[in-house]
Amino acid sequence: MARSQWGSRLGFILAAAGSAIGLGAIWKFPYVAATNGGGAFLFIYLGICLTLGLVLMLGEMAVGRAAHAGAVGAFRKLAGGGWPVIGYMGVLVCFLILSFYSVVGGWTIAYIGKSFDGSIMTADAKALGGIFSSFISHPLEPVVYHGVFAALTLGVVIGGVQQGIEKLSKWMMPALFLLMLALIVRVLTLPGAMEGLLYFVTPDFSKVSGAMLVDALGLAFFSLSLGLGIMVTYGSYVGKESNLVSASLWVILLTVATCFLAGLMVLPAVFAFGFDPAAGPGLTFITMPAVFSHLPMGQLFSALFFCLLLLAALTSSISLLEVVTSFAIDEFGLSRRAAAIGMAAGIFLLGVPASLSLGIWSDALLFGMNFFDLLDYLTSKLLMPLGELLLALFVGWKAWPLVAAELARNEPTHSLLLAMRRFCQFLAPALIGWILVVNI
Ligand code: PHE
Repeated sequence: MARSQWGSRLGFILAAAGSAIGLGAIWKFPYVAATNGGGAFLFIYLGICLTLGLVLMLGEMAVGRAAHAGAVGAFRKLAGGGWPVIGYMGVLVCFLILSFYSVVGGWTIAYIGKSFDGSIMTADAKALGGIFSSFISHPLEPVVYHGVFAALTLGVVIGGVQQGIEKLSKWMMPALFLLMLALIVRVLTLPGAMEGLLYFVTPDFSKVSGAMLVDALGLAFFSLSLGLGIMVTYGSYVGKESNLVSASLWVILLTVATCFLAGLMVLPAVFAFGFDPAAGPGLTFITMPAVFSHLPMGQLFSALFFCLLLLAALTSSISLLEVVTSFAIDEFGLSRRAAAIGMAAGIFLLGVPASLSLGIWSDALLFGMNFFDLLDYLTSKLLMPLGELLLALFVGWKAWPLVAAELARNEPTHSLLLAMRRFCQFLAPALIGWILVVNI
């Protein structure tokens, strides 16, 4: 059977950016930046994305296209031996991420409803915080929304590569950008917003710490969808004539731009309304409604915002489910339908304790964390960096001739390729290894 292919180069870039841009940029980035003191974090995050992020994304895409196979198959085809472990680990991590990602995806659906019934149309920080925490700690409601989100993801993945993923990404991303720009204009004209703006963009490098570097690295990989074989799988659907360097550059630029816009949208509002910047995972959900309450037709804008956030989350969750599904198709010979349904069901089940751990099970701690935080920690701070460390070694030492041939097809000069190789051989493993050690 012929492998699926993207309909166009733009479709590929938008789908890869669709995978990258999601809750990571709009939900996670603002609160992680805020808990890390703002400015310095932004610059470190940007630095990591534009160096490590760029090279590793390019490496993943090249591996996928060279092998013309998905996450596990690619490493087996190009090298064999123990290397497919990178792919297996990636598939497992996609599974783990999607279980808690889908819980947060469910929150966005719930907030669409809350926009319509008007219950979140207030600028009262206490009230909004209360609404959020009583919602996520409820034993049933968020679990149901988690199920709805998982079912939506499943629906698109069963639809297939082109009709599903590509079509959705094409119109959603420009809409999201436009809405965010409009909201930023409103936020920045609120009294008191400037303080938040300065907090976000003024680097205070005295705040840099090991913990901050770990957060920045984890968030960079999470928000760029790296280290799991997603870009390997997507790269395997790309035609040989497409230029991977510019494609990966586009994906990175679009993603960091979204993170930056999300920060500009949320952080000044946090200060203008007197919220606590260290509020954690609820930050976007409790801050944005306050902004909408200061807009004419606020309910409508609020619903629109959470709809677009839902779509952005879906284009990411689709990529996560796509990886585990195509793994099950390739490895077990299942039909797409059976594979997707089976995996989505497993993901839903794992997400249930993740959701409950924010409420009735919040006392059940493992390694000092509730289950939700543990999944997040395990994936973005441990396994994704580890996956990227191995990928860098794979690209730099093991599969270089193939990767180089793949990249040389579309242009890069000899010296650029050499720099990339040395980077993968030495610098990337050293940096990631060091941060991993700090982490443990
Ligand atoms: N990058 C996605 C986001 O920011 C999340 C994700 C992580 C998707 C890893 C795929 C793989 O929302």
